[in-house]
Amino acid sequence: MIVILLGPPGAGKGTQAKMLAAKINLPHISTGDILRQNVSKGTPLGLQAQDIMTKGGLVPDDLVNKMLTERINQPDTKAGFILDGFPRNINQAEELDKILKERNRQVSSVADLDSSEKVILQRLTGRLVCRKCGANFHIKNMPPKVADTCDSCGGELYQRSDDKEETILKRLAVYRKEVADLLTYYQKSNKLYHINADEDTDIVLNNLIAMSKAADDTLKV
Ligand code: AP5
Repeated sequence: MIVILLGPPGAGKGTQAKMLAAKINLPHISTGDILRQNVSKGTPLGLQAQDIMTKGGLVPDDLVNKMLTERINQPDTKAGFILDGFPRNINQAEELDKILKERNRQVSSVADLDSSEKVILQRLTGRLVCRKCGANFHIKNMPPKVADTCDSCGGELYQRSDDKEETILKRLAVYRKEVADLLTYYQKSNKLYHINADEDTDIVLNNLIAMSKAADDTLKV
């Protein structure tokens, strides 16, 4: 099963992808996470992506498509995977279909996680992320038990360089410019589900599980 999570920054794609991955036992592939790992290691890809990401733009398609192909070629994706942050535009969606077709596979379902600007700003300006395990916290809504320290692994918590209000609004504008065409693309193949991502995480997760079961009725969750 191949599931895509679409949605604006802060809709909860990463949060939900991690929870759904644990429920249906598939790997979570986040292009944002892979890019951030490259930035922190100072790889050639990371050096090219760093400035673009800090400013809230999109990393060029050729770089991201290549990075995604390499990830999909890894053996843990055999039973399927959950995509978070890819595709971001029609070019990436078409490239994904091409990569999958070459492997006799196809997208199973696409969730459009919709969230309001007010909720997005509230969530992202207070988000804290663990440098070690990637777990998410929130300064007010979900504070860590010990300041600046991850409850799960003890790693250091930090604020992402693109989580400043000005950059969040830029990221939102970039998302809105591309999303209509993407939604039309997946609507045509009857794979698109609209989910209100302003709801509590458990409600959103249950909707995603229902969507996944609709794509594969043998799924046991
Ligand atoms: P990426 O890392 O993908 O960032 P994003 O799309 O902007 O999304 P976020 O990670 O900010 O939000 P999310 O929807 O995952 O929300 P989260 O679960 O963390 O990309 C970063 C950058 O990399 C891009 O700007 C671009 O430069 C580049 N990039 C990545 N992919 C690319 C591609 N394909 N092509 C080109 N460039 C690419 O949740 C947010 C917060 O809200 C958390 O604190 C969480 O705890 C909380 N929360 C989540 N759900 C709920 C809920 N239901 N209720 C209350 N709180 C919640």
